[in-house]
Amino acid sequence: MSLLKIARMGHPVLLRKADPVADPTGADIHRLVADMVETMQDAEGVGLAAPQVYASRRVIIFFAPDARAEDEGAHDIAPLTALINPEYGPVHDDKVVGWEGCLSIPGLNGAVPRFRHIWYRGWTPKGELIEREATGFHARVVQHEIDHLDGVLYTMRMEDLSLLAFSDELRQRIRAEELDDSTGS
Ligand code: NI
Repeated sequence: MSLLKIARMGHPVLLRKADPVADPTGADIHRLVADMVETMQDAEGVGLAAPQVYASRRVIIFFAPDARAEDEGAHDIAPLTALINPEYGPVHDDKVVGWEGCLSIPGLNGAVPRFRHIWYRGWTPKGELIEREATGFHARVVQHEIDHLDGVLYTMRMEDLSLLAFSDELRQRIRAEELDDSTGS
C-alpha cells in the first residue's frame, strides 16, 4: 500500500466526470481502494473519491462514525465502505444545511444543502451489491463523495457563499458563540 497525493481544487481532474469501472473486483481496483483507505486515514478524512487521487474512475470510500451522527437511527452511521459505480437518490425531497470540508479544499469549511434522507447502492471490491438508506451525516458524506465522481465540489452546491470560511476562523467563531450562549440571558 502507499500514500497517494491528493488533488486540490483547481486541478482539472476534480472537474471531470469519472469513468465507470468495468470490473469492480479487478486487482487494480483492490490496489486503488487499499491506497485510498491509507491516504484517507493519514489525512484524517471521513471520505475520499478516486478523482481526488488523480484516478478518474467511479470509486469512493467513506465512513460515518457514531460521533458524527445527527439523528437517532440506524441509517445515520456506516462502517468503512468502498463502493464502485455508486448511485444515490432522495427518499424525501427535504434538504438540510450542514458544514462540510474536503481534503481537496484544505483549511476551509462551507455550509451546504443536502438531502436529509437518501438511498444509495454500489458494488464492493468483492463483487457484492450494497443497497442502503442513509440519513444525517451518513447521507451527507455519500452525496459529497458521489458528487466528486461527477466533477462537483461542495462549494459548487453552496447557496450562501458568506458561509464559506477558514476552518480556524470558524472554530473561533463557534467557540465565541458558545461562550455568548453560556453567559447570555
Ligand atoms: Ni471532498
